[in-house]
Amino acid sequence: SPQQQQKQKGLVDLMAEASTYYQKQLKLNTAAVEYMKNRGLSGEIAQAYGVGYSKKSWDAAIKHLSSRYRQEQIVESGIAIAKDEGGSYDRYRDRIMFPIRNRKGQVIGFGGRVMGDDTPKYINSPETPLFHKSNELYGLYEARQATRKLERIIVVEGYMDVISLAQFGITYGVATLGTATTQQHIEILYRTVPEIIFCFDGDRAGKEAAWRALDNTLPVLRDDKAIHFMFLPDGEDPDSLVRSIGKEAFEESFSSATPLSAYFIEALSAKFNITQNEGKAQFLNEASTLLKKVPESQLKDLILQDIAKLTGVDRKSILKGKQDVAEQET
Ligand code: CTP
Ligand code: MN
Ligand code: MN
Ligand code: MN
Ligand code: MN
Repeated sequence: SPQQQQKQKGLVDLMAEASTYYQKQLKLNTAAVEYMKNRGLSGEIAQAYGVGYSKKSWDAAIKHLSSRYRQEQIVESGIAIAKDEGGSYDRYRDRIMFPIRNRKGQVIGFGGRVMGDDTPKYINSPETPLFHKSNELYGLYEARQATRKLERIIVVEGYMDVISLAQFGITYGVATLGTATTQQHIEILYRTVPEIIFCFDGDRAGKEAAWRALDNTLPVLRDDKAIHFMFLPDGEDPDSLVRSIGKEAFEESFSSATPLSAYFIEALSAKFNITQNEGKAQFLNEASTLLKKVPESQLKDLILQDIAKLTGVDRKSILKGKQDVAEQET
C-alpha cells in the first residue's frame, strides 16, 4: 500500500542517515581506527563497505536521529531498543558497525562487533520491515559493484571474512548473517553467478554450516550451476587464511574445492561403516532421504550412479526407501 511504501521510504532514509553517522564516528574514534588497522584493513576498504563505529553511549544514535525521526521509527529500524518502562536505548554501543545493503545499495541493517573480548561478539540487526536475514547476503551489493560480470561467488560466515577477502582483491565474497544458508540465498546467487563456493570456518561450527548449506541446497540443485565446498585447515577462517597465503594461493585452492556431489557421498559414507551391511543400509537410508529432495537432474542421476558403485546396490533400488513401501501398502 502507499502507506507501507511511505513507511519503508522513511526507514530507508533513517538507515542511510544512521550509516553516515556511524561512519563519521569511526573517523573520530582513535581506538576504532586502530582496531581496523590492527586487522589489516585500509581506510579505502572501510569506505567501500561503509564501516562505522557506534559510540559508547546509551543514546548517542537516538539523539542524532531524533531531530528527524520519531522514536517509534528508530525502534522499528532496529537502531534502538524500546524499554519496558518507556523510552528506548541504542542497540549498538562501542562497536565496529557493518552496514548491510540490499541489491539497490540501500542500508537495511547493521552488524556490530565489539573491539575486545566481550560477548556477544556480534550484534546483528533484528528482523525489521526492511531487513529479513534469510534473504539478505552481506557483501553482494559490493561484489556486484566491483565486477560487472561475476563468474563466481564465495560464501563465507562473517563480515570480517568478506571485507578481508576484498582487502586482498577477492571482491566476490558474501556472508550469510549469523544464519544458515537458505534456499532463498541460493536462488539469489543463482541469478548472479554460475558457480557458488562455500567456504566456512575450519572449525566444528563451520563444518556444520557446510552440511546445513548442502541440505538446504538440495531442493534447488540445477545442472546449469556448480556448487563447491572449500574446507579450511583447522582454526582458519577465510580472513586468517587469505592473510597468511595471499590472493593467488587462495584462488588457486578453489580448484581443489570439493564438488557438492562428492561432498554428499564423502560426508555420508564417513558417517557409517559401509563395509558391513548394517552400516551400508543406514547409509543408503539416509542418502535416499536426502536425494528425494533433489529435483530430477543429470546430477542426481550421477550421484545415484556413484552410490550404486560404492554400495553394489542397483541404482533403481536406492531411492526405494521405507516410505515408498508404506505408501504402496495403503
Ligand atoms: N556471529 C554472530 N553472533 C556471534 C558470533 C558470530 O552473529 N555472537 C556471526 C557473525 O556474522 C560472524 C559469523 O557468525 O561474522 C562468524 O563468527 P566467527 O567465526 O566467530 O567470527 P568472525 O567472523 O571470524 O569474526 P572475527 O574474525 O572478527 O572474530
Ligand atoms: Mn520484505
Ligand atoms: Mn567460527
Ligand atoms: Mn570466523
Ligand atoms: Mn575471523
